[in-house]
Amino acid sequence: MKTVALVYSQHTAQTAELGGRIAAAWGSEVVYLDPDTTRLEDWMKYERFILGTPTYFDGELPDSWDEFLPELEDADLSGKKVAVYGLGDQQHYPVSFADGVGLLASYMEELGATIVGETSTEGYSYEHSVAERDGRFLGLVLDPTNQPELTDQRLAAWLEQLKVAFAG
Ligand SMILES: Cc1cc2nc3c(=O)[nH]c(=O)nc-3n(C[C@H](O)[C@H](O)[C@H](O)COP(=O)(O)O)c2cc1C
Repeated sequence: MKTVALVYSQHTAQTAELGGRIAAAWGSEVVYLDPDTTRLEDWMKYERFILGTPTYFDGELPDSWDEFLPELEDADLSGKKVAVYGLGDQQHYPVSFADGVGLLASYMEELGATIVGETSTEGYSYEHSVAERDGRFLGLVLDPTNQPELTDQRLAAWLEQLKVAFAG
């Protein structure tokens, strides 16, 4: 299994906490990259990525991702596989639920990356999400505010899915 770069900011507490759990559960080699300090040359060393983000500001990425993404704007990410997990709140933000997952995944796709780790939208209740495409989420969507009891099983199933998607 190729080394996985796990990328999330320490400024977003629950996302960081879940990132720590992913690192502990992964089992194979994983390297943490902080978007607040990572440069393009660090990023390009890896071929497998797990990116974590909450959604803020009514459907936007937090500052740490917004400020990092221009670093990649001329990069060619073809051949790289990217999985995204995201936190949102479907009850208070039903029209922009977990949009950050969709924003990050689409940005990576535009640069040539292959998105893996899509999941079912069953079991969530919201009106609109940029994270949804063709009836599926573009990554793992977690809602620790309203569905904390589902986080463990959603995360465990997703990591199993990624083991297969990241192989080869
Ligand atoms: C000001 C503010 C705006 C938010 N906007 C959204 C939103 O548009 N969509 C959504 O799903 N969640 C939204 N949320 C909820 C957060 O994404 C959610 O609480 C998440 O668990 C926070 O994770 P963190 O601790 O990693 O920052 C918002 C929260 C705050 C405080």
